[in-house]
Amino acid sequence: MKKQFAALIFAILPAFSFAAGAEPELDKVDIDLTDKAAMQDGLRTFANYCMGCHSARFQRYERVARDLGIPEEVMMENVVFTGAKIGDHMKVGMQPQDAKIWFGAAPPDLTLVARVRGNDWLYSYLRSFYEDSSRPLGVNNTVFPSVGMPNVLAGLQGRQVFGCKQVQMVEDGKKQYDPLTGAKITHEACDQLTILPKTGTLTADEFDDKVKNLVTFLAYSANPVKLESQRIGSYVLLFLAVFFVFAYLLKREYWRDVH
Ligand code: HEC
Repeated sequence: MKKQFAALIFAILPAFSFAAGAEPELDKVDIDLTDKAAMQDGLRTFANYCMGCHSARFQRYERVARDLGIPEEVMMENVVFTGAKIGDHMKVGMQPQDAKIWFGAAPPDLTLVARVRGNDWLYSYLRSFYEDSSRPLGVNNTVFPSVGMPNVLAGLQGRQVFGCKQVQMVEDGKKQYDPLTGAKITHEACDQLTILPKTGTLTADEFDDKVKNLVTFLAYSANPVKLESQRIGSYVLLFLAVFFVFAYLLKREYWRDVH
């Protein structure tokens, strides 16, 4: 009985640990892995804002240029800043030991991060940095608390703060207005991220698009053969279907004399 009880406890423990770690709510992002323009824009952002610290060392520049339809000269001019050659892997010069001293944590390689974290997580994470003077770099993140990464996209997004603000009431999915004055009915909500107006070079929508493109590029990077394997997969199924017919005919031929 005791054993069974212990087994039961172990069986339900994971459920509790899941409930205990209050997971932040993630914003959904719908990406399109056939949208080359989005991936090109994402690659540019990645090269300009991320590759100073993060590598994508399982990728070669050449392969990315080919997959995304970027001519080699354009790739060399706009993406390859490290003096690397087109055939090289997308590495960074920073040593992990140094990074650990500077940021408290080494920036991980991002080639496969979309597979590890998921697209929604990345999309939410990159938009959830906020100012927090108690942190060494002056920023924190609601999706990744006490993060060691600076808010590298702050110039585009603007200054974001965390706290309480007045938000419009929504009932049954409908925004609420005062029937007499037509004014928005608001209530105070806390745990809110707010971008201070006119502090970034992009509007909120433009910034969301930028990040979406970046996530599209990271999703491609984590699985560059996805589109190709879907195509090959259909050929394989077609082949199996045709092969089945012949195998069946052959089987009938062999068994004819046996019956
Ligand atoms: C100045 C250096 C620096 C730059 C530039 C930078 N990062 Fe980071 N990044 C870090 C560090 C350091 C960490 C590790 C944070 C930690 O573990 O606390 C990190 C962590 C991350 C993580 C979390 C990885 C994981 O699974 O734990 C993601 C995703 C990420 N960075 C994406 C990006 C993207 C996308 C860009 C470009 C827009 C970028 N970073 C630019 C330093 C940087």
